[in-house]
Amino acid sequence: MISIVLGTRPEIIKMAPVIRACQKKGIDFSVLHTGQHYSYEMDKIFFEELSLPVPYCNLDVGSGTHAEQTGAIMCGIEKMYLENRPDIILVQGDTNTALAGGLVGAKMHIPIGHVEAGLRSNDRSMPEEINRVVVDHISEYLFAPTDDSCNNLVREGIDVTKIYNTGNTVVDSLIQHREIARTKSGVLKRFGVTPNQYLLVTAHRAENVDDKSRIKGIISGIQKVGQQYGMPIIFPMHPRTQKMIQEFGINSEGITIISPVGYLDFLELEAHARLILTDSGGVQEEACILRVPCVTLRENTERPETVEVGGNILAGSDPESIVSSSERIMSSSRMWANPYGDGSAGEQIVEIIKSAD
Ligand code: UD1
Ligand code: UDP
Repeated sequence: MISIVLGTRPEIIKMAPVIRACQKKGIDFSVLHTGQHYSYEMDKIFFEELSLPVPYCNLDVGSGTHAEQTGAIMCGIEKMYLENRPDIILVQGDTNTALAGGLVGAKMHIPIGHVEAGLRSNDRSMPEEINRVVVDHISEYLFAPTDDSCNNLVREGIDVTKIYNTGNTVVDSLIQHREIARTKSGVLKRFGVTPNQYLLVTAHRAENVDDKSRIKGIISGIQKVGQQYGMPIIFPMHPRTQKMIQEFGINSEGITIISPVGYLDFLELEAHARLILTDSGGVQEEACILRVPCVTLRENTERPETVEVGGNILAGSDPESIVSSSERIMSSSRMWANPYGDGSAGEQIVEIIKSAD
């Protein structure tokens, strides 16, 4: 039995193709939800929209410090596995959910498969970098999305026979839902925006939004870009960011702040944006796949492929840098190639696990 561990918005979206592949191939699996994300618009909406099976268990750990959250997830998962031991555990990405799932598996000698292995920002001040490095080094199966990510793993001494370049399941999900989004969403009308005539923004990284001067710089930068191009700014705001903007009393005039939207609406907003400004990992990838120019509101990225192909530029949080980066990326060609695979990552991952049985 495969235990698919997930707990946050991006994990639900990126594990969906793996779940679908298990269903299609008749593989025994179960979904364990840690409850790291729990608000309807960060969690249940994705199960509904993506028609995913209800998890057999939800640990309901909720929010907390890193140690509280990771510890609570570990205790909860261990208890479940002592009752019902899986043959393999699949975790995705770089969250505390992935770290906790991986650590429990390693301690219980259950093999771990890491979906989206090998990403590196080389910035150890990010909690995500610590999580992904640890998970990679305790995994038996490393499903890396690109040559770059495979090379990172080899450089760190990980046995090449454990590494598989599958592409990123983000492509599978996007392909599987793009058409449905086009016909069902209607989000552009709802917010009164015209294709190619608005900016789309997301930001939620702790190092950005928990730091007053960085989030102030980001908000000011996007306001300036909106003014310069005379375009409305749509900002579906992560709950962490909503909380911090209120706490810091930051003026967000000129920005249409909305609650986080579902995947179908978000795909539609991304596909028709003139420019995307973000600090999200998944959004950098999706912008690149959809050939929409992207400004990354960070000093570094673990998605260097998006920059190398010409679809993304690093701007940090300085307003002037956000403006000049936006100008640069908006005036360059949009004909780059998708570096993240052909949309068969989910199927490949399940095949690899099946054939190792
Ligand atoms: C987590 C991940 C991050 C990932 C992001 C995806 C870690 C260390 N961080 O960050 O890598 O990019 O998820 O979105 O695992 N909150 C709600 N409702 C929710 C979830 C969170 O209101 O459903 C609020 C709470 O105030 C909470 C805060 O958001 O304290 C942060 O949530 P948390 O899960 O700790 O981290 P994220 O910022 O979501
Ligand atoms: N997303 C969404 N609604 C939103 C914002 C993002 O469905 O309002 C999706 C987006 O399409 C992508 C994923 O959420 O697949 C990215 O998640 P997030 O930015 O929270 O996390 P990260 O990828 O940075 O870990």
